[in-house]
Amino acid sequence: MKNWNTKYPKRFDLDSDVDYQKWRDEKLAAYPQSVGDLVVELADMTAITNAEKTRILELIELANMCVYTSGTAKLNMDSLIILGEQLGVTETDKFTRHSKSDELTDSGILGKAIPFSTRQVRWHTDATYYGSDKTIQALFLLCKRPALEGGSNKVLDNEVLYILFRDKDPEALKILMRNDCFKYKNPKTGEVSEQLGGKVFWTNPDGHLCHRFSFRKMDMSWSEDSEIIAARDVLESVILEESEYVIEGRLESGMGLISNNVLHTREKPVDSEDPAKKRLLYRARFYDRVNAC
Ligand SMILES: [Fe+2]
Repeated sequence: MKNWNTKYPKRFDLDSDVDYQKWRDEKLAAYPQSVGDLVVELADMTAITNAEKTRILELIELANMCVYTSGTAKLNMDSLIILGEQLGVTETDKFTRHSKSDELTDSGILGKAIPFSTRQVRWHTDATYYGSDKTIQALFLLCKRPALEGGSNKVLDNEVLYILFRDKDPEALKILMRNDCFKYKNPKTGEVSEQLGGKVFWTNPDGHLCHRFSFRKMDMSWSEDSEIIAARDVLESVILEESEYVIEGRLESGMGLISNNVLHTREKPVDSEDPAKKRLLYRARFYDRVNAC
């Protein structure tokens, strides 16, 4: 383990550069190069060994994510929740939402919302619609059936995005770290919730970076402050540059993602017409986070 959180506690402090520079260089040098570097093969995702857990936590520290193979476990939501429990994340938001909303498939539920369709999904973190005090910090996936073709994901560690952004325009980063930038907007009614929304980057009480963003603005009411809009434009340009740190891969049956809600896309899948053969991924989201240390 690198123990960056204890070694460089001020790495996200915009008024201090010493910790940031050291951590930045170590982080980029150690960052996984391809999806193959992110893979951990588990014998049974519902009963992980100490060695498997150690490897998962090492990768989480390096990249805030890893890709796993599920082993002998059943490919269902229970296995995903049990995997979370073994990694110390238990508080899901699944009970507050539609019962099928964590089955990512072309079901057309929730007014044909984009996760439940075969449309392409642009860069986003999951669940931008909570307050900064209680937001989704971990996102897990488990693939039961891939699409006939396509449906891969691009992923980018939020901490790497932070580095790219800070190196390019630290003043813009400061604006997105220190201001409430958007509020939740009900996409059907247009009603804005004053309590939901907030910052784009911030740190949690343990000193870890939190981030949320989406190119889709239909449920986000952005501040009209010109500095915030300009800072958001810089962030969008950094994301769209798709740096060398973007990793792309497709989850095949029995593969999954463990992540601290990293930025991701979904490329357009070509799906089966047969409902029993459509792409199906289970998703679990947690208010907790998989902490390396
Ligand atoms: Fe997503």
